[in-house]
Amino acid sequence: MTLHVDLLLTNIGQLLPMRSDGPRSGKAMQELVVIEGAVLGIKAGEIAYIGTDDSEVTADTIIDCEGKLVTPGLVDPHTHVVFGGSREHEMALKQQGVPYLEILARGGGILSTVQATRNATMEELYEKASFHLDRMMTYGTTTVEAKSGYGLDRETELKQLKVAKELQENHQIDLVSTFLGAHAIPQTHKENPEQFLEEMLALLTEIKEQQLAEFVDIFTETGVFTVDQSREYLRKAKEKGFRLKIHADEIDPLGGTEMAAALGATSADHLVGASDEGIRMLAETGTIAVLLPGTTFYLGKSSFARAREMIEQGVTVALATDFNPGSSPTENLQLIMSIAALQLKMSPEEIWNAVTVNAAYAIGRGEEAGQLEIGRKADVVIWDAPNYLYIPYHYGVNHVNKVIKNGKLVAERMGIRD
Ligand code: NIG
Ligand code: FE
Repeated sequence: MTLHVDLLLTNIGQLLPMRSDGPRSGKAMQELVVIEGAVLGIKAGEIAYIGTDDSEVTADTIIDCEGKLVTPGLVDPHTHVVFGGSREHEMALKQQGVPYLEILARGGGILSTVQATRNATMEELYEKASFHLDRMMTYGTTTVEAKSGYGLDRETELKQLKVAKELQENHQIDLVSTFLGAHAIPQTHKENPEQFLEEMLALLTEIKEQQLAEFVDIFTETGVFTVDQSREYLRKAKEKGFRLKIHADEIDPLGGTEMAAALGATSADHLVGASDEGIRMLAETGTIAVLLPGTTFYLGKSSFARAREMIEQGVTVALATDFNPGSSPTENLQLIMSIAALQLKMSPEEIWNAVTVNAAYAIGRGEEAGQLEIGRKADVVIWDAPNYLYIPYHYGVNHVNKVIKNGKLVAERMGIRD
């Protein structure tokens, strides 16, 4: 019996289906199935056929992949994509050696983006985030997490979350929303961070009712929120039915990793200074380590998260851009894959699992995104690369040939004009 599909990708050099019944942890991150000479059929926006024989499949449209690599669309599980303004003026301060947390303590950094975000209209935020999401898609990302946290007041936090919701409804990319009201202490609450956290917690009922976020996150860091304040905050958020994330041990090793794992957080992110105990607890609880080596690179730090030890101990590792205007202004997850290879010493197989299967589980989308399986939505990337080793290897450029989202061609490599 022949199968008729809308779109058929033929002559695929290497197909990575990334099939997995759950997140891949530890040694299982090394597993990678490669189908050579594959054919992939798409019908009504979903994957309809995966095989090596196309003699029984007919199609309205055929794309000859000419031996290229084909993978699931990438999943970026940690971004701050909705914000106003930009921070290029901080580059000079960084060059003079002013530390990231010092810029923040002076009222710059996150707080300067807060000002710009408060001043922006919903339309402006929407347009700007949409521009960055478009760019992510041209780099092969088809699902993305987006945090609030540049409002630090009721009105602006809700404004950011509503923009994210509109983007989820209207933009082709899939977006998962996280409330990060606890991203910094606003100037008005310097003396009373607990009061500020109470105000942010008070927004959760409204956020839940209007379905504005699935996750709650907090920045646990020196000069921001302590581990005790964060535990209390996340515990209350969990009681209100939210899943948890945390910015933990990014700059100073405070112990946010252990705290988040003990609370059953879905992910703990950054983890540059995570302790041995923190790593052990991530492995034990299954809290996913979302590593952001682009941020470590951009902050000019010499020591990176201990990915090798995490993987050897059985942790589930995912990778993300942390796209934001301060510590990681890049939409390019392929670049993060290269930094993960060079600095985290992750193998290509581990890296592919980290930006597909594990990244999707880190944002509660493991059953929908990050894998190519019959019946799943067709989020597929055709790469200008002969094999999967090539993407982390050839760094800093865009290897996308075509991006297919829900079965539709949404981005294509730019060509040179004749
Ligand atoms: O993940 N660390 C806190 N938040 C972001 C940076 C936000 C900013 O600098 O605007 C991060 O690195
Ligand atoms: Fe972040």
